[in-house]
Amino acid sequence: TVLDPDPARTVQRQVRVPPGVTVFDSASWNGIAIDSTCGGHGTCHKCKVRVEGGAPITRHDVKTFSREQLDDGWRLACLVNATRDLAVDVPPLTTRPKAATVGVGRQVILRPAIQKRYVELDEPTLADQRTDLARVLDAIDDLEPEPDLHVLRRLPSVLRKADFKVTAVIVDEALLDVEPGDTTGTQYAIAFDLGTTTVVATLLDVTTGTPVAVASMLNQQQPFGGDVITRISATMLDPDTLGRLQQASADTLSTLAAQVCEEGGVDPAHVYEVALAGNATMTALALGIEPEPIGVAPFVMAAAHPPVVLATDLGLRLHPRARAAIFPALGAYVGGDIVAGMLATGMDRDKRTRLLIDVGTNCEIVLSDGDRIVSTAAPAGPAFEGGAIRCGMRAADGAIEVVKLGETVELGVIGDVEPRGLCGSGLVDAVAELVKVGLLDGSGRFVPDADAKEVAPALADRLTRIGEERVFVLHRPAPDAEPTDCVVLSQRDVRELQFAKAAISTGWSLLLEELDLEPRDVQQVLMAGSFGSYLSPASAVRIGLVPKLPVLRIVSAGNVAGEGAKMSLLSLRERAGATALTEEVTYVELSDCADFNDRFVEQLAFAD
Ligand code: FES
Repeated sequence: TVLDPDPARTVQRQVRVPPGVTVFDSASWNGIAIDSTCGGHGTCHKCKVRVEGGAPITRHDVKTFSREQLDDGWRLACLVNATRDLAVDVPPLTTRPKAATVGVGRQVILRPAIQKRYVELDEPTLADQRTDLARVLDAIDDLEPEPDLHVLRRLPSVLRKADFKVTAVIVDEALLDVEPGDTTGTQYAIAFDLGTTTVVATLLDVTTGTPVAVASMLNQQQPFGGDVITRISATMLDPDTLGRLQQASADTLSTLAAQVCEEGGVDPAHVYEVALAGNATMTALALGIEPEPIGVAPFVMAAAHPPVVLATDLGLRLHPRARAAIFPALGAYVGGDIVAGMLATGMDRDKRTRLLIDVGTNCEIVLSDGDRIVSTAAPAGPAFEGGAIRCGMRAADGAIEVVKLGETVELGVIGDVEPRGLCGSGLVDAVAELVKVGLLDGSGRFVPDADAKEVAPALADRLTRIGEERVFVLHRPAPDAEPTDCVVLSQRDVRELQFAKAAISTGWSLLLEELDLEPRDVQQVLMAGSFGSYLSPASAVRIGLVPKLPVLRIVSAGNVAGEGAKMSLLSLRERAGATALTEEVTYVELSDCADFNDRFVEQLAFAD
């Protein structure tokens, strides 16, 4: 429950987060602001929330709360891990923050591109015949913004109707508008994470850094293909398709913008800037740039740093001159989304050796040894999103997301409903558990029936066939249900996952070699993206998707692209940091590696 001083504005929100993430991060990633000045590091003692039924008490809680408060469930949000369903009361912010916590524990000092200045101007006289524009610019001469024709057109009437009491709106050194009266309290921006599958929008109040509303939906380009290659191919087959894809992108972004503005009670005309983090293809399609050369070797983008773009160029109807800050890309397959991800995780500001893996159809991998940063992209295919998997589905109600095998089969199902299929994290869990109990051998083959009875007698009867293919029954809707009516994992599904994980592990092993490192040198693995964040670290290690490391070193990083987009709206310094990253990071082309095939085949087996 997000409490508000005005009870009518108190709302109940239900959010789904990766297990183990702190309540503080869970809230922040879902657009719910909690007081903090330390950025979730347990030192400011401001992030007070009430957890229904309580949670383990830390020494910091004891210092912060009275006995009664502790008994009532009050805890510091950054010290409570969401390991089960939790009901949490979040009090309203007590202070107007100067900094915001964004990304993976990043504290961002607020210095947004949007600035507003309320000025009361002297009215013109015969002795003072300065132009209307000069009058405004003189009053804000420390900012020296560039005027805009759009502003000039209405400036005479705005000044006179408002008795020369106006607010100048400046965005990134451009005088975007002059508004009647004092409007300094309304300064909004929208951060977009433009994914191939899912698009997320966060409406931000840039004066406080707090998220006002968050919405997400499937990218409406889906009918043109599930991945970037099929969408690029569609534009090659029919010249009209580019326009249709651009329109679908505009429709998606506009729907989300309208949704967050409505939910936040914000007039779209008060949104002065948007930030867009997307992969190179999604960015090109959103801007109507021909994407063909991205899809064929030698994989070239039209531009890595898009020029100044207006929100209207993306099909958005916000403030008519609202700007769009588009994230720069590193390469055709390491796009603005991963640059945003690097910003959100502070890959360039941490001395530790860290590996960032954004798992998706195209998997981006970044490795930093605290000094140098290298990156690559691995074509993982659609397995993690449920594509090419017999009972595969997206992470929606009815998807099996957790599998535990022992004497019985324990399933975690999204929405706590009857299982309908298997999503990416369920697929990884199922395979990892089958390897663990010995029903899958190291090469990824189901063991013969006789061996199955020996290694896992309680589960052996679930190993059956559909036609010629061997399958393992995860869920049987009725005792006598045919295998075709059950949720199963097939031999081919296991192969698909092996190909996906081999592509990814070939990617990170190559990057480790590039920096002369061993897998054990990696101090932290950040699993990002709508799939990676939900992955069980133990299963990821077992199947070799990540280096063989203690599970505590593997952390869920959430939607890092969206978080990076938020950071760029809240701080020009961070935005400049994103541009600097594109100079700092060395891109390694995986398909350029001479022995790629040998490496790939080596990585197909499951780790011992
Ligand atoms: Fe500072 Fe929790 S955010 S103590």
